[in-house]
Amino acid sequence: MDSLVVEGGQILKGKVEVPPAKNAALPLLCLSLLTAEKVSFESLPDVADIQSMQKMLEHLGVEKLDKNLFQCKTIKSVQAPYEWVRKMRASILVLGPLLARAGRAEVSMPGGCAIGERPVGIHLDGLRAMGATINLENGYIQAECKKLRGTKFVLDFPTVTGTINLVTAAALAEGESLLENVACEPEVVEIVQALRQMGAKISGEGTSQIKITGVPKLNGLKWQIQPDRIQLLTYLAAGALTGGEVECTPYRQGTLNAVVQKFRELGCEMIETSESLRLKAPQRLKSIHLETAPFPGFPTDGQAQFMACTTLAAGSSTIRELVFENRFQHVAELRRMGAKIEVDGNTAVISGVDHLSGASVMASDLRASASLVLAGLSAHGKTKVLRVYHLDRGYEMLEAKLRKLGAKITREKE
Ligand code: EPU
Repeated sequence: MDSLVVEGGQILKGKVEVPPAKNAALPLLCLSLLTAEKVSFESLPDVADIQSMQKMLEHLGVEKLDKNLFQCKTIKSVQAPYEWVRKMRASILVLGPLLARAGRAEVSMPGGCAIGERPVGIHLDGLRAMGATINLENGYIQAECKKLRGTKFVLDFPTVTGTINLVTAAALAEGESLLENVACEPEVVEIVQALRQMGAKISGEGTSQIKITGVPKLNGLKWQIQPDRIQLLTYLAAGALTGGEVECTPYRQGTLNAVVQKFRELGCEMIETSESLRLKAPQRLKSIHLETAPFPGFPTDGQAQFMACTTLAAGSSTIRELVFENRFQHVAELRRMGAKIEVDGNTAVISGVDHLSGASVMASDLRASASLVLAGLSAHGKTKVLRVYHLDRGYEMLEAKLRKLGAKITREKE
């Protein structure tokens, strides 16, 4: 497994080109299961999860006609096997589309992962409300229906992939669906907009209610995916932690308001234009109080990167993780680099130190890995981040982009 070796202490300055969003691209690729027509993207993120998703879709019958061009004339298999789901939880996103188009789906039940238990009960309850019969057998979700029918369903929690599964299923169901307490994340909004281009009758994206009138058939799609707001905030955090100045482009205004506000509270100067977001770090970062929440709240996917920032902020910061129950795995590793962090349940209290010192640290999940790289960039001496395959799942050319900003970072192949 590869490692990243970071020589800390460089002030990062410059521009970063932000790749398309992984968490939008994954469900967008699954839309190819809903239509016999062609589905194409201007570009796709070059990260491991997108490659895994393409392989799984190929197994289900999606042909790759060209680099970013796909077509599923017929569904060849309705089974998402354990070997794929185990590697990538987002495989659950094929459940709604398979059920809607083929009337059947067998998706391996995703297990927990490093950040929490991550149940899918809401996905299943919503599909049951649309008339599907769902059983759990031999580790598989076995779902079946003659024809899905529209329903009224209130989600217990605004789950992102749950909302997308229900919206994609309802798009081809018979009659009208009203989904309440749905996720409002920009990635969910994008799926609804793409479905509309495919001919779906759907409205309400970005609010807590989505209304869908099912149609018998959907058309093809030609789409440009939004920039990855989580990669974007990670590069800005690299600027903040190293006392630098970083500009990211492209940027979609309104997708990171809570993050921009917290960067300002850290003492950073933030300049937003319709196409870019620029951060200028202060002499020393200030302490902050932060709670993660569903959109428009502060994204849980940026929590670990902000914790890295607070390790060097003057005074005491608090971070509460309210979306996942176990997303503090970076804490023990940051402590090994000299950070002062106390954890009580879902709350971390961080007392800023003058400097971190380089160490060998272990990456536990995608965003935790990013926070360790960030900490390494600002630390005295050398940091080796082990097990970076987590990072490769969601960050495109991270080392090259950081090197362009002036970082000293190399990959060690093992
Ligand atoms: N939840 C339930 N029941 C369900 C579904 C979810 O209780 O049936 C709970 C979860 O246990 C969790 C909370 O709802 O506590 C939020 O989970 P959600 O379902 O929204 O997460 P997800 O859809 O599995 C997506 C992203 C994650 C991101 C979360 C939250 C994708 C492929 N994944 O996951 O991204 O953290 O939303 O915004 O879109 C990442 O990119 O690093 C990542 C983990």
